[in-house]
Amino acid sequence: MKLDSTEWDVRVQHTASLQTVDPAIFELIQKETRRQEQNLELIASENITSLAIREAVGSAMTDKYAEGYPGKRYYGGCEFHDEVESLAIERAKALFGAEHANVQPHSGANANMTVYFSVMKPGDTLMALDLAHGGHLTHGSPVNFSGTLYNVAHYGVRQDTERIDYDQLRDLAKQHQPKVIVGGATVYPREIDWAIMRSIADEVGAYLMADIAHPAGLIAAGEYPSPVPYADFVTSTTHKTLRGPRGGMVLCKAEHAAKIDKTLFPGLQGGPLMHQIAGKAVCYHEAMQPSFKQYQQQVKSNARALANALQQEGLRLVSGGTDSHLMLIDLTPFQITGKLAQHTLDQVSITTNKNMIPFDAQKPFVTSGIRVGTPAVTTRGMREPEMGIIANLMARALKHHDNESELAAIRSEVHALTHQFPIHTL
Ligand SMILES: Cc1ncc(COP(=O)(O)O)c(C=O)c1O
Repeated sequence: MKLDSTEWDVRVQHTASLQTVDPAIFELIQKETRRQEQNLELIASENITSLAIREAVGSAMTDKYAEGYPGKRYYGGCEFHDEVESLAIERAKALFGAEHANVQPHSGANANMTVYFSVMKPGDTLMALDLAHGGHLTHGSPVNFSGTLYNVAHYGVRQDTERIDYDQLRDLAKQHQPKVIVGGATVYPREIDWAIMRSIADEVGAYLMADIAHPAGLIAAGEYPSPVPYADFVTSTTHKTLRGPRGGMVLCKAEHAAKIDKTLFPGLQGGPLMHQIAGKAVCYHEAMQPSFKQYQQQVKSNARALANALQQEGLRLVSGGTDSHLMLIDLTPFQITGKLAQHTLDQVSITTNKNMIPFDAQKPFVTSGIRVGTPAVTTRGMREPEMGIIANLMARALKHHDNESELAAIRSEVHALTHQFPIHTL
């Protein structure tokens, strides 16, 4: 739709800046921006959005109620929102080869909730990877709605290979007859065999849901196996490897489209976050460019380089390495817990998160591992040589965790490295 007169063709004008309106928040945002510039961001679920995405997310799209879907809204004035959301949907479908896309979930958790509410009743059986072996809270953890509403059966990884035990999965599926089998994880460095998961789901008459929150960007670029041909439902976040704004989405077969849309709205959300949806549309567009494939190849190649370098430093990696953007470090060879390792690395401006390793002897708040990933450092331009430097800085910090002067020296080296790879010139 066109505006009726060029005199209305206004551009955004800032009458008062954040700095003048709310200096306290302005200052905190400045500090956070500086933290991001200085620190090495190795949290596997974080990334850095482009300025184009930030422009969309910080736009006038945030001001509008648009309950409903394109062409079927409960509010007037949604003509441009319809176009934005339609573009986001068409791009998501094209990017992943999906029959249907719902881009309204506010988060990955809401996307998972949408699928569960669409096909399960309270008390039905949900099967998913154990949280302690890499699953997510929404995959049936007792502290999450998924673990309290449903009867949960968890599968795990084999102790010898630390890879998903598909034989156990099949046996448990036959025993528990789940309504939904979830594939996908928060901390699983290896590829998932979607064909086997499909065959197990078929054997027991279950729906297969693939939660690709982590590898979505790799999948979009053809760098990780896609579950789209196999799964009834595919859920994701848009802000991890996909490098979009914070949010979620559901992809599904056409036969489930109406059910999914109705469950999400009016079933569990109100007005969609249209500024985030505009950002998602830009993210899908960016993910269709050739440079995105190169980026994802580099993410994987950096992860392999970091994994090799960490192993050379004497650290053990769960499952022996990675096929993706992330790895799980077993710290037991260094006799340090995940909690202390995270704290030590924080002191040298390297950001990671402590994480349980499979069959961990430590409690969840302590852990024997840390999870690291390469999406954010790759976005800021780092390559294989920097991965060797990072592994060395990490190992030195962990070995000298009680030596303040050594930690201060390492922190300076981290800042010297990050200074060479500025973020906000993207
Ligand atoms: C596999 C998986 N599913 C779902 C989620 C939830 O996403 P959100 O934090 O956006 O709710 C995450 C987030 O870490 C995840 O790793």
